[in-house]
Amino acid sequence: MLADQLLALLAQVFEPTSAAFIRHAGPESVKYAIDLGCGPGYATRMLADAFPSASVIGLDISNHFIRSARSREHATTRFYLHDVTGNPPPGPPADLMYARYLLTHISDPTVVVSRWLDFLSRDGRLLIEENQSIDTDNPVFVNYLDILTRMLVGQSNNLYLGPTVEELVNSAGLNCLIDQVTPVRVSDRDTATMFRMNIESWQHNPFILDNYSQRDVLSIMSALDSIRRADEVFSSITFNVRQFALGRS
Ligand SMILES: C[S@@+](CC[C@H](N)C(=O)[O-])C[C@H]1O[C@@H](n2cnc3c(N)ncnc32)[C@H](O)[C@@H]1O
Repeated sequence: MLADQLLALLAQVFEPTSAAFIRHAGPESVKYAIDLGCGPGYATRMLADAFPSASVIGLDISNHFIRSARSREHATTRFYLHDVTGNPPPGPPADLMYARYLLTHISDPTVVVSRWLDFLSRDGRLLIEENQSIDTDNPVFVNYLDILTRMLVGQSNNLYLGPTVEELVNSAGLNCLIDQVTPVRVSDRDTATMFRMNIESWQHNPFILDNYSQRDVLSIMSALDSIRRADEVFSSITFNVRQFALGRS
């Protein structure tokens, strides 16, 4: 499925940044870790590799992703179908909870994030990664991001959740131990591949159908395809990833 391929590439692109962050921001001893909104389980595996003596579970609301994650289960990982906004997660209090690119799917993040902190062990950490901003002067990427941003505004949603997390941490008075922005330079080829796959999921959205012609959409798809096929590995885009480590109050 295209969504699996997209998340596989996303995991590969952000792995060095995320792995460095969880090693730096995670507690010294991790016996039990939870990957919230784990998708096909790539970040769950990253947690398992970073903390080899821990049991790590991945939770996701999608049956499809849980099946996909289970197909590459590892000795210390397990996956469960679970809505992370609902019942408490299975197992004991967690030493580490990790949520990457999940909060955009959650309608009341303030309540949900505060609640997750209750499921941590005493010195446990909740680590969150979201986009703060994206810098690029590549006209194809600028155009793509402009269309996506307009579409998300119409859905009261946002591509850049970093500032929203900052706001909720401050308004709820949460115990924020780390708040940093890490720039990730991504090749144009990988970016075009991710954006191209993503268009498949939103090209029939009512906002797109109402505001853009099929020609506009096909033209951006074809421009992304040309970048994807280019031989040289070049980068004209930086994803600025906001990284938060929260503890119990
Ligand atoms: C953009 S993907 C990120 C996947 C993974 N965290 C990563 O970084 O590779 C968001 C994931 O959150 C899951 N998700 C959305 N709402 C959820 C909820 N309420 N409970 C559990 N998972 C949820 C989606 O099914 C999807 O797999």
